Amino acid sequence: MHPDCERILITEEELAAKVREAGRWLTERFRGKFPIAVCNLKGSAVFFTDLLRATEVDVEMDFMAVSSYGADTISAGKPRITRDLFSSVEGRDVILVEDIVDTGRTLVTLRSFFAERGANSVTVVALLDKPSRRVVASQADYTCFEVENHFIVGYGLDYAERYRNLPYIAALKRSVYEK
Ligand code: IMP
Ligand code: MG
Repeated sequence: MHPDCERILITEEELAAKVREAGRWLTERFRGKFPIAVCNLKGSAVFFTDLLRATEVDVEMDFMAVSSYGADTISAGKPRITRDLFSSVEGRDVILVEDIVDTGRTLVTLRSFFAERGANSVTVVALLDKPSRRVVASQADYTCFEVENHFIVGYGLDYAERYRNLPYIAALKRSVYEK
């Protein structure tokens, strides 16, 4: 384990098993369709590529970015779209892939963003959910794991742009972000 981590919360094997399940869920739900899968950068990037390889659905891949955190562990308030999509989502079935639903602000912002752009449907797949932190009511349609209120890193999630490439999900030591 990385020395900045307190403990591993979700192992590589547990992640792989859940990602396969989520992939099968998408296969059932979008059989015969050609949805557009949207990766909300950067935190979802690792999950996104594993998830899409675990489904048999034909999907278009697209990417966008929303900023709310900066380099801190506390949400800075209303999320902003900082990188727009390559394609139009008008009339399309959107699969939004999220790393974690925390306060819920990003999800609320993105659901209305896709609605304004005329998407036919929006299905949210989230790797993680921290229900105890919710500020605005919103939920993913499929959640892989619920986690307690730790600051977590790995499998795409960062602290100050580090730890994204850890193959597991771990709680970060308080001493790392409180110094
Ligand atoms: P929101 O508060 O639900 O809008 O979540 C916004 C974003 O905060 C997520 O997409 C993550 O990128 C980030 N985030 C929330 N909790 C954590 C965490 O424990 N570790 C790393 N990033 C987090
Ligand atoms: Mg982040």
